[in-house]
Amino acid sequence: MRVWGRRILLAVVAMLVVAQFIPVARTNPPVDAAQTMSETMPVPSGVATILGRSCQDCHSSETVWPWYSQVAPVSWFLVNHVNEGRGELNVSEWGRYTARRKDRKLKEICEQVTSGKMPLETYTLLHPQARLSDPDRKALCDWAEAARKKMAPGAAAP
Ligand code: HEC
Repeated sequence: MRVWGRRILLAVVAMLVVAQFIPVARTNPPVDAAQTMSETMPVPSGVATILGRSCQDCHSSETVWPWYSQVAPVSWFLVNHVNEGRGELNVSEWGRYTARRKDRKLKEICEQVTSGKMPLETYTLLHPQARLSDPDRKALCDWAEAARKKMAPGAAAP
């Protein structure tokens, strides 16, 4: 029994060691400052602070990668979240979105934070300062709604 216990432990350690050699791309793609959200639409400083604190690590090209993002298998999980998050919404690429897409994403921002889906729970566990307060949620929704109204009519998604 004890021999098997040690063999299993050694096998797990060996797998973890091997896992470190599987390459994962932790990228921060170059940012064109002219295309960022803050350059291409009005973002009050309060809203910018909330987005920066609670969303930017997964929804911009300026991710701050924590030390544990270097360690497999955690790294696979984190890289995947960031890539998926950027695919859905990247504030560094905002200027390249169509009016229709912007409208949809603004609407989604309010919905996602109101429903509590964003920021992801796995993230706020490790970044407690990223948790949103009710006034934070309201600030995001008020801003997003006002921005949608200001955008060209016809772009609005129902
Ligand atoms: C830990 C990474 C992470 C953080 C932090 C995070 N998100 Fe996300 N977000 C994701 C991922 C992954 C997806 C895509 C999968 C999903 O919807 O669950 C996503 C999807 C979204 C979408 C797209 C939903 C859709 O269907 O169009 C919006 C909008 C969004 N997030 C807003 C936010 C906002 C606003 C914040 C900050 C308050 C935030 N997210 C924080 C990872 C993150």
